[in-house]
Amino acid sequence: MTPPILRHLSDLRAKHATWIRAGESVAVVPTMGALHAGHLSLVEAACADCDRVIVTIFVNPRQFNNAADLASYPRTEHDDAKKLVGFGVDVIYVPDGGQIYPEGYATNISVTGLTDVLEGEFRFGHFDGVATVVAKLFLQTGAHRAYFGQKDFQQLMVVKRMARDLDIPIEVIGCPTVRETSGLAMSSRNLRLSAEGLERAAKLYPIMQQVAARLAGGESFAPLADEARIKLQAAGFNDIEYFDLRCEEHLQLLDRPTRPARLLVAAWMDGIRLIDNIAVDVLGN
Ligand code: PAJ
Repeated sequence: MTPPILRHLSDLRAKHATWIRAGESVAVVPTMGALHAGHLSLVEAACADCDRVIVTIFVNPRQFNNAADLASYPRTEHDDAKKLVGFGVDVIYVPDGGQIYPEGYATNISVTGLTDVLEGEFRFGHFDGVATVVAKLFLQTGAHRAYFGQKDFQQLMVVKRMARDLDIPIEVIGCPTVRETSGLAMSSRNLRLSAEGLERAAKLYPIMQQVAARLAGGESFAPLADEARIKLQAAGFNDIEYFDLRCEEHLQLLDRPTRPARLLVAAWMDGIRLIDNIAVDVLGN
């Protein structure tokens, strides 16, 4: 049996009230659907930690910068519901548009600073859309815990900051990136690559790992980044939007991992924009 699908906030609130009366903990896993093993790892973590689990599926128009990208985003609700069988999910919340942005909706949530760089620089307005919809999903679901992927590391940081700044009583948990056996980070966008494109895209992860290992060995980032960009271009990444070493907390540029740091990349392969990031070991004193 697939978990029940609720489309109205009032139905979700009624369920939530019975759970809270019974003293149960509630988790939410926000998604835009087209579920793959990366999403399902979040669902698994949520089900292991909490009594009740809500998976949300909402393709949020406000976070797309491009109408064609929004129109072509896969919508596979039926298959998604089937993939959620067997985990212990209590409800799939698929709000119809009016539940999130009713007539006359006028409020925007904007996290400053953290969103000036990386994805924020290349996808203008994207994080306002993310912060706004995630704040609404947190408030609508009344969850105690929310599960996000480190795959979208900047998004995870933005969501944590938003929840903290707005005093939303929810714990935001970051889960590890799930990868194909080739090392390529799972993403719904991978489906748009040819078999050959997938093979070339898989070169990204080992290149990142090599850079991380050499940073841990004490080398400085700038020459490593130059070398990596050449390798990425040779692999077929024709536009590398960023290849940065940044501190985890504030996403400031670093030349050496002197505090918790991430290597973050966005690059295009065969017309598809891919992002990835990995942690880098902090240098000892
Ligand atoms: P979506 O791209 O559907 O991703 C939903 C969640 O799955 C995010 O937390 C994302 O980081 C996580 N995820 C995606 N690929 C992953 C992988 N390979 N390993 C682990 N986790 C992975 O991100 C969004 O939707 C939206 O911006 C959303 C937060 C739902 C707001 O609209």
